[in-house]
Amino acid sequence: MRKKVTKAIFPVAGMGTRFLPATKSVPKEIMTLVDRPLIQYAIDEARAAGIKEFIFVTSRGKGALEDYFDHAPQLEQELRKKGKTKLLKTLQSTNMDSGAIAYIRQHKALGLGHAVWCARRLIGNEPFAVMLPDDVIAAEKPCLQQMVEAYNETGGSMVAAMEVEPSKASSYGILDTCEERGDLVKVKGMVEKPNAEDAPSNLAVIGRYILTPTVLQNLNKLKSGSGGEIQLTDAIAQEIAQDRDVYGYRFRGQRFDCGSKSGFLQATVAFGLAREELRDDLSAYLQSISQIDRAAQ
Ligand code: UTP
Repeated sequence: MRKKVTKAIFPVAGMGTRFLPATKSVPKEIMTLVDRPLIQYAIDEARAAGIKEFIFVTSRGKGALEDYFDHAPQLEQELRKKGKTKLLKTLQSTNMDSGAIAYIRQHKALGLGHAVWCARRLIGNEPFAVMLPDDVIAAEKPCLQQMVEAYNETGGSMVAAMEVEPSKASSYGILDTCEERGDLVKVKGMVEKPNAEDAPSNLAVIGRYILTPTVLQNLNKLKSGSGGEIQLTDAIAQEIAQDRDVYGYRFRGQRFDCGSKSGFLQATVAFGLAREELRDDLSAYLQSISQIDRAAQ
């Protein structure tokens, strides 16, 4: 029987330089879309997919992240006293079970592959998920849940894949595919950040992965790759060289790159419009500024 995916690694040790000066003191993952930090979206998605153990790979200056996951008994008591039951429920929905979270330090930002490798002892010999919280995905069925369901059928390693314009290929890991089966594509190679003319397809890897423990063994042996960093895609590509299956999964949903300012702003608008209590005000405002813009042109 195939082992279930119950562990997820959240690599959050990056410096978030694109959001300086904010990220001087606020971890990127704590920045909020409407009223919830990015990390909460990732946790909710992981829970929906059946994840029970949450492993954070952190670095210096990420204390606010650990505090966020502490229970807040005083605040809860205060809300209870004031009869603010809706807010109390919202707050309690963020509580994590004791022992469900582990923190590992990545002492040097040597790349995503290295961050994942830092968690190897907590993973052991099981399949595991990797989630990058700055990729926020709005979907009817949460993206990782879609992937876990597909993985339960296929086994192997799986990456979330999305079509991108050729001009954007150099910002992603790009899949070299050999077989299409509905939402799944069989992968025969992966290239990290190729030029448009060298990209083997238009399918880019985004921040959701289900990996077999052999990927960790590959990471053991890896030297730094593209950009001088230890690349996770290189370790996944080695799976193919070792005759193990790797799949790309075309998820259903809208992905926002909240690691970039433009993506973060787009997500703020989209998630704002999705809230009933904000929709009317926000869309009236958006209409008014687009009219001003048109008039100015
Ligand atoms: P990014 O490439 O977005 O880097 O990392 P970053 O440092 O977060 O942001 P910028 O580019 O400086 O603005 C993608 C994910 O990989 C993690 C990051 O925390 C983020 O979740 N990461 C990256 C690590 O955990 N360790 C690393 O050494 C590199």
